[in-house]
Amino acid sequence: MSCSLRPVGRAHRARLEALVRGTGLFREAEVATALELLDEALDGDDDYRFLGAFDGDDLTGYACFGPTPDTLGTYDLYWIAVDRARQSEGIGTQLVRAVERTVSAGGGRLIVVETSSRDDYNPTRAFYEARGFGRTATIPGYYAPGDDLVIYVKDLTHGNDLAGTAS
Ligand SMILES: CC(C)(COP(=O)(O)OP(=O)(O)OC[C@H]1O[C@@H](n2cnc3c(N)ncnc32)[C@H](O)[C@@H]1OP(=O)(O)O)[C@@H](O)C(=O)NCCC(=O)NCCS
Repeated sequence: MSCSLRPVGRAHRARLEALVRGTGLFREAEVATALELLDEALDGDDDYRFLGAFDGDDLTGYACFGPTPDTLGTYDLYWIAVDRARQSEGIGTQLVRAVERTVSAGGGRLIVVETSSRDDYNPTRAFYEARGFGRTATIPGYYAPGDDLVIYVKDLTHGNDLAGTAS
């Protein structure tokens, strides 16, 4: 199904918090970080852009992304999450495609994603790999002993099909 995409406003802050927590993947400190980033964006910080996927007025997922400081055309996809009950409907793909189009339209070249090597992130890594992100670097034990940082990169200048829509 296709959701409408628009920025996440203050009215959806509580829904975003519940959505992030409800994925079951993030620690409470990470939930707090997600909200801090939203608050900064709502206060006008353009380094963090929140794109929401909406089914009517219901926030079903969102992506947070922004230009990586001190780079030329590199962007970080800081966060992406889809309501647990709505996963595997193509909403995450729709969000990633929209982020790619926005970054590309703004002259961006690279999108960088940091994630975890933990087994519970297997579907997440499969998601990035299936959407054309390449596993580029690993820092062993970065998050915790046995929990590596895995960095994915997508080069938007290499003829990717940015017009692709959600599956
Ligand atoms: C990763 C995530 C954003 C993908 O969004 P989504 O709307 O479920 O993704 P889509 O429906 O567009 O694509 C589904 C694909 O994602 C992968 N996937 C990720 N999580 C999945 C899940 N819980 N169930 C099924 N597939 C999942 C599969 O590879 C699937 O591939 P397929 O289309 O070939 O079957 C979403 O599952 C999510 O919020 N996960 C928890 C939070 C998270 O991991 N965020 C990223 C942190 S770095």
